[in-house]
Amino acid sequence: MERPDPSEIVRPMLRVRQVREFTAEPIEAAELDAIADAGRWSGSSRNAQPWRFVVIRDAATLREIHEAGLPQTRSLATAAAAVVIVMPQQSGGGISLAYDEGRAAERMLIAASLLGLGAGIAWLRPEARPAVAALLDVPEDRFIRTLLAIGHPTEAARQPKSAPGEARLAREATVFDERWPR
Ligand SMILES: Cc1cc2nc3c(=O)[nH]c(=O)nc-3n(C[C@H](O)[C@H](O)[C@H](O)COP(=O)(O)O)c2cc1C
Repeated sequence: MERPDPSEIVRPMLRVRQVREFTAEPIEAAELDAIADAGRWSGSSRNAQPWRFVVIRDAATLREIHEAGLPQTRSLATAAAAVVIVMPQQSGGGISLAYDEGRAAERMLIAASLLGLGAGIAWLRPEARPAVAALLDVPEDRFIRTLLAIGHPTEAARQPKSAPGEARLAREATVFDERWPR
């Protein structure tokens, strides 16, 4: 059998896009477990696994976080669930920790997409972080910056946001052969 084109193999990754509007359909516990496992198995600097994940399905909690973090948290207005990434408060190592956090966040977006769900990143502004941390009983030495809103995308959210191929810079503008172009 002929091997599929590499770009076709990788295409599911290209379909991992930000989703902010969800239907009322709930998410199964096993789906959330699988998404959290994708985060848990992410690589991190020195394999420190600095993250902890709080999985939220309670509608009242989701709406409270939505209110606390607007407008960045607008996707939580309709999300069926959220995964909150809880990171250590640390004076040094901030860049390395943020890098690890981004790796875990993106993997969970990919996992949601592979399950046919939609997901989106919401960043909590520094001013909004203490209220959300208190709501979730997060200890003082940890903080929350990234939330993932998850659910079944609405029909509108499934539609392309721009013409085919136009949502990103062209390959020639971003990927260079052997050296920086003259
Ligand atoms: C570090 C980071 C922070 C983000 N913060 C938010 C946010 O607070 N709220 C939000 O709705 N989207 C947020 N996004 C999502 C971006 O807006 C989205 O990835 C970008 O618009 C590309 O969307 P697309 O993949 O659907 O084209 C964030 C993305 C990243 C990488």
